[in-house]
Amino acid sequence: MSPANAIDAVTHPDPYPYYTTLRQGPPLAFDDTLQLWVASRADVVAEVLEHAALRVRPVTEPVPRGIAGGPAGEVFGRLVRMNDGALHTVHRRVLQRALAGLDPEGTRNEVLRVARRLPGGPLDEWMFAMPLRALAHLLGFTGEDGPGIAADARAFSACLSPLSTREQFDAADAAALSLGDRLRRLLAGRRARPDSLFAAVLAQAHEDASVNADTLLANLLGLFSQTCDSTAGLIGQAVVALAREAGLATQVGTRVDGFELLMQEVARHDPPVQNTRRFVADGCTVAGVELHPGDTLLVILAAANRDPTLNAEPDAFRLERVARRNLGFGRGVHACPGQALAQTFAACGVQALIEQGIDLNSIRTSGWNYRVSVNGRIPCFGASVVAAR
Ligand code: HEM
Repeated sequence: MSPANAIDAVTHPDPYPYYTTLRQGPPLAFDDTLQLWVASRADVVAEVLEHAALRVRPVTEPVPRGIAGGPAGEVFGRLVRMNDGALHTVHRRVLQRALAGLDPEGTRNEVLRVARRLPGGPLDEWMFAMPLRALAHLLGFTGEDGPGIAADARAFSACLSPLSTREQFDAADAAALSLGDRLRRLLAGRRARPDSLFAAVLAQAHEDASVNADTLLANLLGLFSQTCDSTAGLIGQAVVALAREAGLATQVGTRVDGFELLMQEVARHDPPVQNTRRFVADGCTVAGVELHPGDTLLVILAAANRDPTLNAEPDAFRLERVARRNLGFGRGVHACPGQALAQTFAACGVQALIEQGIDLNSIRTSGWNYRVSVNGRIPCFGASVVAAR
């Protein structure tokens, strides 16, 4: 059965025929049931994401009501992901430069070491823990801190969905305090390795007098929430591709850059972040449609990636692709500064899973479904386990 709407599509077994129908409709279509403007064509998605008048949060609700006034809301209100204007520009620059300065080869070796050492257990848990533990390690935390940080990061991230419950909001408050304390201790004790991502962020922050210490700390915490669901989703979606596409595991295993290419194509073909939103503050025009203050746009990144004007034969899964173009990490001033790192996390994670003998045949036979979400496509594999080393 076709998805009922663009939110239902996120967790549908195959939303792509529905996305094709959307792309063939008007450039910007109003969905009465969702009360949202929907953008699905690549050119319109790019126009929306590059539009200077559109905002990442509604003007009337800069922080979601469920967490406003508490510790999680205090962090949320300072995240570059959730702000436009000066706060965004200044602190994004710090993060972007620090992330761009990571040495790709050294980072890959460190992340692979973390992935290989991670204890076995249910795959549905492992794929969340692995990138969070790798990020904690790169920031300069010790291995002992890893499990607590991963648990806090998941609890904090769980408050970010429109579907979050009161219990999740409360747990996110506790997690925001705990993660904040951990980061402050790392800072105060000067325990961060000089070559760590934490040290790189601090070095970038020293260059700019307008950086605010609390906002910087909130955004270091925000790196965990930006990593959490999306990178777990990329690992899961890569496992799905390996189980679904005949011969892919062999193809990947026989190339030096096989895991990197796998992540690039998975992130394009069936991306873990299917959509994002933009909000109209002042009246403006998008794709020829006049929009009014208070209007909301649903921007379907996954539909844009399958637009034949963006990628040739977009429905085909190709490890090697000429001019692969991917809007799954966003575009414009809010585009993901962690794309390369996310792909490294997922490439190393899946390499470790294959080395540990993940049973792709049994995953293919038993199938998978998707976690309830309005934007994340994160597979659930039920009984599948990662063997202990
Ligand atoms: C597969 C994993 C990931 C995906 C698919 C992903 C995707 C995205 C997307 C689509 C955006 C833009 C949202 C918008 O414009 O509305 C974004 C923003 C962001 N991402 Fe990622 N991301 C991933 C992993 C990461 C990682 C690992 C980090 C850093 C450790 C990171 C850091 C950020 C930050 C800081 C922003 C906000 C940028 C800004 O607003 O200026 N992401 N990500």
